[in-house]
Amino acid sequence: MTLATVERADILSGLIDAEQDRFRTSHPRSAKAWQDGNRHFLYGGPSHWMRRWAGGFPVYAEEASGAHIRDIDGREYIDFCLGDTGGMCGHAPDAVTEAALRQLTRGTTMMLPTEDSLWVGAELSRRFGPKYWTLTTSATDANRAAIRIARMITGRRKVLVFSGCYHGGVEEAHVEIRDGRVGLRNMIHPNGVDHEAVTRIVEFNDAAALEAALAHDDVACVLTEPLMTNFGMIPVASGFHRTLRDLTRRAGAVLVIDETHTLSCGPGGYTQANGLEPDIFVAGKAIAGGIPAGVFGLSQEIAERLWKLVPLVNPRVRQSAHLGFGGTLAGNALTVATMRAVLEKVLTPANYQHMIATATQLASKARELIETNRLPWHVTQIGARAEIMFMPQPPRSGADVIAGRQPDLETLLHAFYMNEGILVTPFHTMLLMCPATSLHDVERHTAVFAQFIDLLRKSRVI
Ligand SMILES: Cc1ncc(COP(=O)(O)O)c(C=O)c1O
Repeated sequence: MTLATVERADILSGLIDAEQDRFRTSHPRSAKAWQDGNRHFLYGGPSHWMRRWAGGFPVYAEEASGAHIRDIDGREYIDFCLGDTGGMCGHAPDAVTEAALRQLTRGTTMMLPTEDSLWVGAELSRRFGPKYWTLTTSATDANRAAIRIARMITGRRKVLVFSGCYHGGVEEAHVEIRDGRVGLRNMIHPNGVDHEAVTRIVEFNDAAALEAALAHDDVACVLTEPLMTNFGMIPVASGFHRTLRDLTRRAGAVLVIDETHTLSCGPGGYTQANGLEPDIFVAGKAIAGGIPAGVFGLSQEIAERLWKLVPLVNPRVRQSAHLGFGGTLAGNALTVATMRAVLEKVLTPANYQHMIATATQLASKARELIETNRLPWHVTQIGARAEIMFMPQPPRSGADVIAGRQPDLETLLHAFYMNEGILVTPFHTMLLMCPATSLHDVERHTAVFAQFIDLLRKSRVI
């Protein structure tokens, strides 16, 4: 490391300390709540993910409405995190609240379908392509089910994923390529599972490596996002989807497209907007307006192959076959009612138009600042989602992200944003719009991003 690099790292570390001090001082009630939470929760909060906020601890939410959150210290935030996409409908949207309240008074979980489910199934097929659908309680669960089905119908064991991927608590996807070696995804602790036995991994956009990995004829499915969103945004190279589809067909591997995040692209996700042909389509998070839910849909061909193994219901056989996925709460009446409200009234073409226009404005203002200040950074936008990355060019693969990422700068930006009343998802600098996000919110973001650049300039980091 050069002296300049060491000096820059020291300056950044001092700036992070200063922002975290400012955060602690201005959030006394959240600081105290976090201390108390650590007495009873394994990792401080009801979910371990809540410990990852750059201020050093999370703010405790008092109330959230639309694109805004107020915390227990009485501070207001513009929420561009939106529950890391689970809140993409905005907080407490009327249609979802009304549907939930109506269903709460009529029963939530009965192991029986409601008529709303008929509307939901037809709408899912209309949006994402004709499929046979199943509801789950999360996107993780939907991915696990997709993998299980792929293994059942192919009789193969391995799941192929791209380095830098994240698909939830899916063991097979907890891998990455780092320094040319396959290992466990950054910071995941080994757990006795032989990942090499169940996984193949290649770099995103690398058609030759994909072809070679599929040539072993042992891959049950390729599990991928249409473009990668969980390691910073990695855009998909032109033609890669065509190649991926051709190669998976030729190799007899099932293609699972996970649109949990890319649902932000439009009413039919990236799949509909770009004519993808997944064998299994997965989504989750925002699909029921923040009520836990996932969905997966099988193409006609994959459904028929599954029905050969596990036939459709025979009314004369009392005990139906156990499929090895799903749960008692999946497809419950409350989830179905809120999913209907989302698909009918919230994630509508008009709302997407607004969300995408808002994201376009945010991205273009951030780009202007980057260009005016001649900074080696870039902004990627896909639909209602924009991301500022501290690299000159969009990465083509996980390797590019590992080589170019500046974690300290990201931590500083996140802590600074929190102190200035802006929330972004803690794991990357993704800014997501909901139907309630306004141009006023975008203007505030532009002003705070400009202040951040000023801070770096005054501190000689840039
Ligand atoms: C692409 C993708 N798939 C699946 C998941 C898992 O979602 P959940 O944690 O709601 O199960 C995530 C979560 O971030 C995701 O980004």
